[in-house]
Amino acid sequence: MTTFDHAASLGYDRRATRLLGSLYRRIAADIDTATDPGAAVTDIGTGPGRLLSRLAERRPDLRLHGIDLSPHMIEIAHRNLTGHPVELAVADVRELPYPDASLDVVVSSLSMHEWPDLDAAARELRRVLAPGGTLAVYDFRFARTAANRRALSAHFGAVRPTAVRLPWHPLAIVTRYHATA
Ligand SMILES: C[S@@+](CC[C@H](N)C(=O)[O-])C[C@H]1O[C@@H](n2cnc3c(N)ncnc32)[C@H](O)[C@@H]1O
Repeated sequence: MTTFDHAASLGYDRRATRLLGSLYRRIAADIDTATDPGAAVTDIGTGPGRLLSRLAERRPDLRLHGIDLSPHMIEIAHRNLTGHPVELAVADVRELPYPDASLDVVVSSLSMHEWPDLDAAARELRRVLAPGGTLAVYDFRFARTAANRRALSAHFGAVRPTAVRLPWHPLAIVTRYHATA
């Protein structure tokens, strides 16, 4: 059950636009260096699609996709991505609308702490990534870090968590979990 109804989704988009630009820029730069031309990328729990919009501007060659559990978030993402050929869908991370081994990069930002079944989610992320594909999950540092790492490691082998600092906060409040399929 999603907690992001229409009002909460609009409120989140306003806050994200104000506070998270530097995080989206950092993630877009990471994806830029990790992808070949024309690579297929999906953003899991894309919310209002602000990361996808950065990626579409930075790398118009990428085939971009995004999913979110909340239909209200997807409606806002459609609006925010007007003019960009990004495929969006309402879906649960535990049941992704992609064939096996069909994606080069799976990215997720500030969503994993909300996933109810980490093992099922990690299994599904692994299923859709092509061999050699990149997993890049960013989540709040103090939310379930050990559990996130355990679940991802069970399906990807070595997962390297690194701290990510946002310019407006004195502490590194985001962890990046990086792995290769
Ligand atoms: C805090 S928002 C982050 C949105 C966006 N990634 C960002 O960085 O601005 C978390 C998002 O994860 C989505 N979400 C939560 N559980 C999910 C699930 N099981 N499957 C897909 N999306 C989920 C929520 O609906 C919400 O849009």
